[in-house]
Amino acid sequence: MPELEQQPRVPMTRRYLMCPPRYFAVDYVINPWMDPSVPVSVDTATAQWTELRDTYRRLGHTVEEIEAQPGLPDMVFAANSGTVVDGRVLGSRFRAPQRTAEAEHFRRWFVEHGYRDITMPEKINEAEGDFAWTGKVLLAGTGFRTDPAAHAEAQEVLGVPVVSLRLIDPSYYHLDTALFVLAEATDTTSAQIAYYADAFSAGSRKVLERMFPDAVIADRADAECFGLNGVSDGRNVVLPVEATGLAARLTERGYEVLFVDISELRKAGGGPKCCTLEIRK
Ligand code: ARG
Repeated sequence: MPELEQQPRVPMTRRYLMCPPRYFAVDYVINPWMDPSVPVSVDTATAQWTELRDTYRRLGHTVEEIEAQPGLPDMVFAANSGTVVDGRVLGSRFRAPQRTAEAEHFRRWFVEHGYRDITMPEKINEAEGDFAWTGKVLLAGTGFRTDPAAHAEAQEVLGVPVVSLRLIDPSYYHLDTALFVLAEATDTTSAQIAYYADAFSAGSRKVLERMFPDAVIADRADAECFGLNGVSDGRNVVLPVEATGLAARLTERGYEVLFVDISELRKAGGGPKCCTLEIRK
C-alpha cells in the first residue's frame, strides 16, 4: 500500500469543451437538487463558471467554448452532450424533453470543428454524465438517466469495453455525481478512481471493488457537496470547496487539490465535472 501512495502523479494535458451559463436558471425539476422556488443568479453562476474555466487554463489545459442558447438553462452542463474517445464522438440523447435540443447544438459544434466520426445515439444517453473513461474501459452508469441499452450502443460505436454500473440513489442520478477517474491507465488495475459506494447497487459495488481495489472511498459528506463530481488531470484535482474530507484523502495519495466554488451551479444539480466535456483527441 505505501508504495502505491508514493507513486508520482503525472498530469496529462486535456482539452475541454464548456458552455457559459448565460441563460442559467432552475425553472423545471428533473433531479432532487432542483428547486425553482430558490432564486439563482446568472452573474454568480457566470463568475463561478469563469473561475472553473480559468483554473483549467492555469493548469495548461485547452478550454473550448460553445455558445449558450436561450431556453436551454442546463446547457452549461456540457458533460451531458458528448463522449469522445480517440477522436470518435458519440453524441447524446436526453431523457428530459426540456434538455433534448441541447444535443443538436453540440453535434453541430463537433461538425464545425472538424470531427468526422460522429454518431448520434438511438438510446437515451447522457454522455459523460453517465460515462467515465479509465484509459481502457468506459464505466457506464444507469438507473436514472442513461438507458442500459445505451451502454451496448456506446461499446459498439466507440469500440471500447463498457462496464455497466447501477445507480440506486436519486440524489446521485448520474454516474459523475458518485464516481470519477483520478488517474487513467491503459490497464484497468492501475487506473485510480474515487467513488461513493452507497450510490451503487450491491452488485455494482462488488464490480468496483474487484476492478479498483485501491480506489479512494468517499463518504456521504464528500458526495453531498458534489465532491465526486471532481475533475482530475492525473495529478491536479479540481473539487468543490466544501469537499475538504475528500481533499485530505486525495492529498495523502499524492494528488494536488484545487478548490472551486460551484454553489450556484449546484442548485441545478451540477458541479465541476458536469460543466466539463472532455475531448480526447
Ligand atoms: N439539471 C441538470 C440535469 O438534471 C444537471 C446535469 C448535471 N450534469 C451532470 N453531468 N451530472 O440534467
